[in-house]
Amino acid sequence: MNEFLNKLTSIVGSPYIQTTGDLDRYEEDWRKRTKGKALAVLSPGATDEVSLIVKACLQEGVSIVPQGGNTSMVVGSIPDASGTQILLSMQRMNKVRALDAGNLTMTVESGCVLQQVQQSAENAGYLFPLSLGSQGSCTIGGNLSTNAGGTQVVRYGNARELCLGLEVVSANGDIWNGLSGLRKDNTGYDLKNLYIGSEGTLGIITAATLKLFPLPAAKLTAWASVQNIEQAVKLLGLAHKMLGPALSGFEMMGQFALGLVDKHFPNLNVPLWRESPYCILLEASDSESELHARVQFEGLMQKALEAEIITDAVIAESLAQAKTLWLIRENITMAQAAQGLNIKHDISLPVSQIASFVLHTDALIAKKIDGVRIVNFGHLGDGNLHYNVQAPQGVDSKIFLKEYEHDINTIVYDSVVKYGGSISAEHGVGSLKVDTLKDYKDPTALSLMRSIKKALDPNNIMNPGRVINSL
Ligand code: FAD
Ligand code: MLT
Ligand code: ZN
Repeated sequence: MNEFLNKLTSIVGSPYIQTTGDLDRYEEDWRKRTKGKALAVLSPGATDEVSLIVKACLQEGVSIVPQGGNTSMVVGSIPDASGTQILLSMQRMNKVRALDAGNLTMTVESGCVLQQVQQSAENAGYLFPLSLGSQGSCTIGGNLSTNAGGTQVVRYGNARELCLGLEVVSANGDIWNGLSGLRKDNTGYDLKNLYIGSEGTLGIITAATLKLFPLPAAKLTAWASVQNIEQAVKLLGLAHKMLGPALSGFEMMGQFALGLVDKHFPNLNVPLWRESPYCILLEASDSESELHARVQFEGLMQKALEAEIITDAVIAESLAQAKTLWLIRENITMAQAAQGLNIKHDISLPVSQIASFVLHTDALIAKKIDGVRIVNFGHLGDGNLHYNVQAPQGVDSKIFLKEYEHDINTIVYDSVVKYGGSISAEHGVGSLKVDTLKDYKDPTALSLMRSIKKALDPNNIMNPGRVINSL
């Protein structure tokens, strides 16, 4: 083993291999549910180093867990407890390689933090629209490997839709240069889309060519209260009709979720939450002007009030106010973390089915556990809910999870299937949902996935046990 570690040291250089010291930030998952132990943490600085590492690991029969910002919500990016896996941190590979203004593309290394990518695009006068609450620490490689969603999907799509090409180190150490800026290329199987969303189980993304967009002339943000999800869905329909492609964000937040933000971030002054079961955060990105955006947005709010779809609304008057409204939404995750673990779900449904799903599932859960609280919020514009289940008042969250996680998951996921949804919308499968997936994914699809894994990673060295665990 020493010889193997010496070989890895000669590839990355001794400052970039760690076997001792405080490795918690690499070995513990973001939600602090699980802690693993790596044989070594490697931080390569270039694609050819990644290639040599994979070849060395393949020869030694050692598996590799790729990691970006380690913000995975599904325990996908930490090593297992065996102390035999290599944790491959991509954070040193953080260069912007090129920006092609004529083609509206930008090529970046996979360890670039998402916020750095957004900022580099903006500095050049363009928009890279992917936006997540974790954007200050997650990496573009992690975003592509999980096909992340976030808060701008309603207009710009998931990470997959924002990527035109990839550079990948395959599971046998070969480098595939697929850094194409092409918007059309029908030359066979779509390898890019195979690696996107594969959660590090097929290869390592080392760079990506991303789509850029013109910066909007104006952005407006509003906050509205509604009496129920049916009304929220009506508001979404109206927003699509009246704003057209300008609608760039549509988030829904339940009263209990906002109550947690109010409790843990009292200085944010959450508006309208005490008197309404749900609040909606809407954003319009206008390509004409601030005035045009405001006229359209005020027209929408007026109509929604007149039709009694919403009960009240606030339109942000300044960038600072808009930022605070977004901060309230984004801080739901931090407020939950401060409150203690809950049973987390990241589900998608046809938008038309969401109200019935919530009514049905709320009732089943309330019947099972008295006093349970539902932290319901999410990207309603994309049909994506974070339907989380919090212990009753006074019940220890760890004990609650131990006792009820399996049963609650069964209730929620059975209900998801009943209403035509998916058990993972944007966070992925990781190790948290790998056993559940077997019960809810179409068996033929699972079998095809296994064939792909076997073909591309026959020695099962790439993030084994994640996404699919029985080969
Ligand atoms: P990691 O957590 O390090 O890894 C995630 C997975 O990708 C792992 O399986 C890992 O092995 C693999 N991986 C990482 N880098 C590579 C690479 N270069 N090549 C191959 N495989 C790789 N997610 C959303 O979709 N929408 C949200 O709105 C959202 N909001 C969040 C808010 C907060 C506060 C937090 C903590 C998380 C949020 N997430 C959200 C989840 C998370 O941020 C995303 O899944 C993100 O895309 C992960 O990026 P990362 O760089 O942290 O990846
Ligand atoms: C969000 O939408 O805030 C994220 O997906 C994170 C979460 O589910 O907590
Ligand atoms: Zn989300």
